[in-house]
Amino acid sequence: MTDADTLRIDLLAAIAAAPDLAVLDGIRVAALGKAGSVTALMKTLGSMAPDVRLVDGPRLNALRDGVAAAIADRKAELEAAALDARLAAERLDLTLPVSPGPAGTIHPVSQVMDELAEIFADLGFAVADGPEIEDDWHNFTALNIPESHPARAMHDTFYLTQGDHVAPNGHPAGAATSLRWLLRTHTSPVQIRTMLNQPPPIRIIAPGRTYRSDSDATHTPMFHQVEGLVIDRGITMGHLKWTLETFVKAFFEVDDVTLRLRPSYFPFTEPSVEVDVGCSWDGGMLSIGGTASWLEILGSGMVHPRVIAACGLDPDEYQGFAFGCGIDRLAMLKYGMTDLRAFFDGDARWLRHYGFKPTDVPTLSAGVGA
Ligand code: DAH
Repeated sequence: MTDADTLRIDLLAAIAAAPDLAVLDGIRVAALGKAGSVTALMKTLGSMAPDVRLVDGPRLNALRDGVAAAIADRKAELEAAALDARLAAERLDLTLPVSPGPAGTIHPVSQVMDELAEIFADLGFAVADGPEIEDDWHNFTALNIPESHPARAMHDTFYLTQGDHVAPNGHPAGAATSLRWLLRTHTSPVQIRTMLNQPPPIRIIAPGRTYRSDSDATHTPMFHQVEGLVIDRGITMGHLKWTLETFVKAFFEVDDVTLRLRPSYFPFTEPSVEVDVGCSWDGGMLSIGGTASWLEILGSGMVHPRVIAACGLDPDEYQGFAFGCGIDRLAMLKYGMTDLRAFFDGDARWLRHYGFKPTDVPTLSAGVGA
């Protein structure tokens, strides 16, 4: 056996036995590197007699190529084994239940807002919104509540301390009108913003936060309302009543619903009504349906011609109806909470009890409250 044969046998054995990539690379350097054993043999080619080189040259080349190929094969093998080991170690069973279990719940107010959006989307209403920091023109004046109007005082408005400024150019109040910043006292200014921003026909609801300086078991300084607005030609109280009835049936998931429209007064609607929903006593609990008792749920009416005109529309051409409703109260009626203040305490026990699973997405097909 020649040196080359011995070297091949030794090297191939070492390569086959290399336990990892680092050892294998050590073997590669020791054999094929600059000072490697195979390289040293190759260097002897130069000083060989031509007839010897004719025989040894191809043998040494074959040795070098064979060792290089064996190293490459072993390398591929070790890499595949390393990948397999890593995949086995990092294996995840995605079918296992989440651990720890899901934390956090959807607040009933958010859930009810989603329910409202779902119910009204089915009736062709889009969701609109507006700023919580408003000016008194959008919050009051454009809604037919002029400066001297007693309704302004009734709203217990939070004014911003640096609140006075002059309407900028292009403000719908008209240039040079003095404006005051405030926290919107109702969602009704979204009616104004919507009419100013898009042409009729308009069908929107606008759920959101509202603010009044008021606090007891049924009032919090921040609360939630949803506004509804329809503007088109030929809109009547009949459309209003049908829409509200359809909404109440879907929301409370009761078919036998009677609404009572009581004449009322809001500056921005004419005529105005307050809407009560018929209830009955069911084992000491008040439940929706029947006519034994009445619960007031919202204010509503035909949009006042002055409001339509303030938004640049012709009240002889366009009519509409609007409604405004407390979302917190809707949630309390539907899901049985008794103290409004607990809604905003952030008590994790309350949230766990009254909150909804993120997967409980309201849909009409499943019944909105599912
Ligand atoms: N903005 C009224 C409030 O906060 C609620 C309301 C009543 C809204 C009648 C309306 C409406 O759109 O037509 O008390």
